[in-house]
Amino acid sequence: MDVFEAIFDRRSVRRFITKPVEENKVAKILDAARWAPSIGNLQEWEFIVVRDPGRKLQLSEAAVGQYWIAQSSVIIIVLTKNDRITRAYGRKGQDFYVKYDAAAAIQNMLLAAHSLGLGACWVSVFDEIAVKRILKVPTNNIDVHALIPLGYPAEKPSPPHRLGLEGITFFEEYGQRWVKDTPKFL
Ligand SMILES: Cc1cc2nc3c(=O)[nH]c(=O)nc-3n(C[C@H](O)[C@H](O)[C@H](O)COP(=O)(O)O)c2cc1C
Repeated sequence: MDVFEAIFDRRSVRRFITKPVEENKVAKILDAARWAPSIGNLQEWEFIVVRDPGRKLQLSEAAVGQYWIAQSSVIIIVLTKNDRITRAYGRKGQDFYVKYDAAAAIQNMLLAAHSLGLGACWVSVFDEIAVKRILKVPTNNIDVHALIPLGYPAEKPSPPHRLGLEGITFFEEYGQRWVKDTPKFL
């Protein structure tokens, strides 16, 4: 699938059929994650693959009762260890860069899942302490950024509203309107 097709056609999918997702597809999605850019190429991310129905249910409860999550075939949890980033970049590393790295990996995973014919959704509304307890994640200096439920889709959501480019893009200076035919000086 062409990269623009994947970007424009991907949707958050929250309904799945019961067909299990093959482990080689999970591996490919994880591979896409680890090829994302990361600060200083530190690659501080880690992933947990969850298939157990009881644990998926617990995770959906920790995600403020988003029970649809438990209907997915697999949930991939995205974590970062923060030691090396904090050592290298201080507070900014801890507050921002770990989140950027996780987000880049997550977006790669969503696009990879879509291009493999799978549905997925970025889920970050959850009780982190509860998620750590369920997954036995150490509490110190590790962040849980997202749960990514994956499955064969039972829905094809229509595209939600997006703001137009010209309302969110400036040319040269903040506040100066950018229009599609702005000269490019090429
Ligand atoms: C940081 C972040 C957190 C999100 N958390 C949730 C969530 O907890 N539950 C959920 O159903 N969707 C969640 N979403 C998905 C958004 O609702 C979705 O991306 C948005 O509505 C746009 O729809 P689209 O992904 O189909 O383009 C989250 C997305 C992001 C980027």
